[in-house]
Amino acid sequence: EPGDITTDVLIVGSGPAGSSAALFLASYGIEHLVINKYASTADTPRAHITNQRTVEIMRDMGIEDQIEADATPHPMIGETVFCTSIAGEELGRVRAWGTSPARHADYEAASPSMNCDLPQTYFEPILVRNAMARGSKYRWSTEYLTLTQDQDGVHALVRDRLSGQTYTIHAQYLIGADGSRSKVAADLQLPMEGRMGRSGSMNIVCEMDLAPYCQNRESVLYWVLQPGAAVGGIGLGLVRMVRPWNKWLITWGYDIDQAPPELTKDSAAEIVRNLIGDPTLEIEVESFSLWTVNEMYATRNMADRVFCVGDAVHRHPPSNGLGSNTSIGDSYNLAWKLAHVLKGLAGPELLATYNDERVPVGEQIVTRANKSIDEFGAILEALGIDPRDDTATMQAQIATRKDATEEGEARREALRQALVLKNYEFNALGVELGQRYASAAVVGDGSPFPAPVRDAELYYQPTTHPGARLPHAWLGTADPTAPKVSTHDVCGHGRFTVLTGINGAAWAEAAREVAAATGVQVEAHVIGPGQHYEDLYGDWARQREHTDAGAILVRPDNHIAYRSMTMVEDPRQALEDALSTVLCRR
Ligand code: FDA
Repeated sequence: EPGDITTDVLIVGSGPAGSSAALFLASYGIEHLVINKYASTADTPRAHITNQRTVEIMRDMGIEDQIEADATPHPMIGETVFCTSIAGEELGRVRAWGTSPARHADYEAASPSMNCDLPQTYFEPILVRNAMARGSKYRWSTEYLTLTQDQDGVHALVRDRLSGQTYTIHAQYLIGADGSRSKVAADLQLPMEGRMGRSGSMNIVCEMDLAPYCQNRESVLYWVLQPGAAVGGIGLGLVRMVRPWNKWLITWGYDIDQAPPELTKDSAAEIVRNLIGDPTLEIEVESFSLWTVNEMYATRNMADRVFCVGDAVHRHPPSNGLGSNTSIGDSYNLAWKLAHVLKGLAGPELLATYNDERVPVGEQIVTRANKSIDEFGAILEALGIDPRDDTATMQAQIATRKDATEEGEARREALRQALVLKNYEFNALGVELGQRYASAAVVGDGSPFPAPVRDAELYYQPTTHPGARLPHAWLGTADPTAPKVSTHDVCGHGRFTVLTGINGAAWAEAAREVAAATGVQVEAHVIGPGQHYEDLYGDWARQREHTDAGAILVRPDNHIAYRSMTMVEDPRQALEDALSTVLCRR
């Protein structure tokens, strides 16, 4: 039809999921088009905690410095405060996001990149401008309406909201990155578990100078326990830093079974003032909006040529800060697979492994985030309060923890314990970095994943077992004036990579032959003394688990595809077989 458009991949939505997919596809040289029904990127700061996995993915894309430039850095985000108001009494603190002395080393050792706080209003433009600089095409004010698909491709009907005109975009594949009310997921009738609308919450974005209250306890999150805060279910009001220390987002619950509250700038400012507890503070309310806490994930995230990523297939509360991080993880998993299939280097069956690898992650994070909300209950219980109590009862109960009585002592201890439980929300490194895949795109060696030696949610355990994320170790180069590089730097970049030791040099030779024979990009690095990369600290040898003559084959998304514990008779054949299996080339 005249006016129709053709592209290789159509991406519906330009949020973290859609725009990161665009950045990955552009970096891999895949032609694509992004549409967003609105005229611009996100207008409220929503997602913000940017975990190490996301920063290292951005490092792979070569834009870690841009993330750092706009983010509030790691040392300024961790003193999570619990209080009765910002100016009032403090109940306790949790050192979050790996900032405690006891946990910092775990974070430092696990990744070349540190976590940070980057509100969605800053992150999305970084993704969009880098994607566009690498060839992404964007059409704003363009709304997805419906789709059909057949053997040749996907045909999406869209509406230009400026002119009102509808037209069809024909694509080889379509990525539904259209958020928690995904029309694409609904049109595919993706099966979902759980429920939407668990509770109601309002966001108030405002400017106010809280520097005096923050400078000795720098944090992103200040939780305020006040009567009425639990109506929406989260148990506490939240004062969240957007920019230190003058721009804030306040989250406050509302009863989802009642008519939604009708806010004005004045009533919103009143809610903020109560949470701050400083009657003289100047508050400039910028905007307010309502949203719901959801608990839902798809048990299938694709149908033929259409894939859903991000909130379209996992919907959950902000606890653990997993939303945009997981959305970006989805797209990173999918993009290299699409690139290899579209370049004719992989069989289309490879695309089904997106479903097999990411559906379990979606389920895990939705469950984790909702459990974190429930665990706030322990804090209320420790204080002996029901947040529906009236102010006087609640204050009296909170004060009991100061009593020189056995009851007072029990309350003090219970509160300390309840705050320890919050490590599962604020220091869950295992949840953030410990994702392990089992699918046709991983060549298992028959052995199980190593059993966790510590709590698997709190602690990340590096392993080179096929399916695991590549462990990070700092390497030196032959040039003593050059900076250190991570194992994550020498792998990734849209290619496969073989890593081996000096006794495994035949693997590197084999990799070059396999690359030449198949056309698949396979880099190879021998790591050891006198080689281009040296294992300066011995950290790689301690983590790689295979012998010096063994090797790993790393996927473009820095997950392990295949591992051989030692040299084999025909390494070329072994690598070619592994690559064929992973890329579904048979
Ligand atoms: P997202 O909703 O961001 O984007 C959807 C895109 O699709 C938008 O561009 C939209 O315009 C477009 N679209 C929708 N329908 C369309 C149609 N029919 N046609 C064309 N375009 C269409 N996460 C996190 O990691 N850490 C955190 O701290 C928080 N905190 C947080 C607080 C609050 C208050 C909320 C509401 C959410 C969070 N989140 C979060 C969650 C986070 O915001 C969310 O997980 C991500 O934005 C999801 O990214 P997506 O790209 O999947 O969807």
